[in-house]
Amino acid sequence: MTEKRAHFATRLGAIATTVGSAVGLGNIWRFPYEAGVNGGGAFLLIDLFFVFVIGIPVVCAEFIIGRNTGLNIRGAFKKLAPGKSWALIGYMGILASILILSFYSVVAGWTLEYLRLSIVGFGAENSVDSFHSRFDTFATSDISPVICTLLFLFINYVIVIRGVQRGIEKMSNIMMPILFILLVVFCINSLMLPGASQGLSFLFNPDFSKVTPSVMIGAMGQAFFSLSLGLGCLITYSSYFKKDTPLLKTAGIMASIDTMVAILAGIIIFPAVFTFGMEPAAGPRLVFEILPSIFTQLPGSTIWSILFFFLLFLASLSSTISMSEISIAYLVDEFDMSRRKATTIIISIAMVLGVLCALSFGSLSVVTVFGLTFFNLFDYISSNILLPIGGMFISIFVGYVLDRRIVKKELSPKSSRRELTGMRLVILCLRYIAPICIAAVFLYSLGIF
Ligand code: PFF
Repeated sequence: MTEKRAHFATRLGAIATTVGSAVGLGNIWRFPYEAGVNGGGAFLLIDLFFVFVIGIPVVCAEFIIGRNTGLNIRGAFKKLAPGKSWALIGYMGILASILILSFYSVVAGWTLEYLRLSIVGFGAENSVDSFHSRFDTFATSDISPVICTLLFLFINYVIVIRGVQRGIEKMSNIMMPILFILLVVFCINSLMLPGASQGLSFLFNPDFSKVTPSVMIGAMGQAFFSLSLGLGCLITYSSYFKKDTPLLKTAGIMASIDTMVAILAGIIIFPAVFTFGMEPAAGPRLVFEILPSIFTQLPGSTIWSILFFFLLFLASLSSTISMSEISIAYLVDEFDMSRRKATTIIISIAMVLGVLCALSFGSLSVVTVFGLTFFNLFDYISSNILLPIGGMFISIFVGYVLDRRIVKKELSPKSSRRELTGMRLVILCLRYIAPICIAAVFLYSLGIF
């Protein structure tokens, strides 16, 4: 099967595409909303710990598995540990990727609606209240959010069907830097708002009295979600890496850019939250109410707004393309299915589940499981449970089970002193720190300590 695989044309392409997967709604929509709900500074600090201490080594673990086997998540475990139950991690990852694709497409659909509104105009009223009620009217209706979700998934379908290299790589290379520049501009604007110091203090001053089990679980889930980690996305993508792509360096660059974008989003959002007298804990709607309010303050607001929602839509697309790839690569590799058929199956499932999530703010808002709507349930199960558990098993697999020669070949091919030190640190984390910390957060949140 390996010879069927395409490769990213350049090393920069490999990095840009992995960053393209990582940077998306997770940074710009989910991070501010979760930080807002979970008390700000302390959440950020725990998130940073999970990204840099646990995340980077686990990203490396996925890269090692993916590049070494050149296979999808399930095939990779089957090849490296034949006949063992490790391949179950693969099924978990595939399930998580479909759940995420479903609720993520709803929010990506919102960006499409906001792009449309930016073009036709948000209307005469520009107060924060008017943006609040506009979001309400839109999200609670049963038609527009469903259409937007399906439209987004259809666009995703058309791009994914074209295959890895052409579609994804070119788009990521152009799009990421522009989005970044735009965020920096908005950031400067937010820093000049009257509520800037309050906003920054909310985001950067950790108040440890606010740390509860749910904050810990939330911050861990956010780190995994934002890095696209624990569900085999990075196994699948690195199966397209060339042999000379440096894995640890790529993981470090990806995690740093990803975190920078999330922090920029926080610096944009929270000063505005305090300036406009909004609640930081407004939930999923936060960004969609705050950003239009920010744009109206800028000269040439229409252009900023169009540009921003267009780029956010593209950033979402490069992320959903990567999650779709997990299950599509599985069907193509394991069942010898055509790419077209595999894509059609996966996107159809996501469309059905996506509609349930889209209606979670409208007529299905009363339908709850464990007190959560479909939208929140899919998010909670995948981000806060499946991804960290997946990450824990991936660490244990590479730390204890995988032949050390494979780890060495992938992480330190030249055996330079720097490479060897990096490899030792990664192994230390995979064997002890990552599994213990992830298990500890779960035990803590179950009330065991
Ligand atoms: N990391 C993406 C984001 O932050 O928007 C979301 C994501 C992409 C999660 C791909 C999982 C995945 F496999």
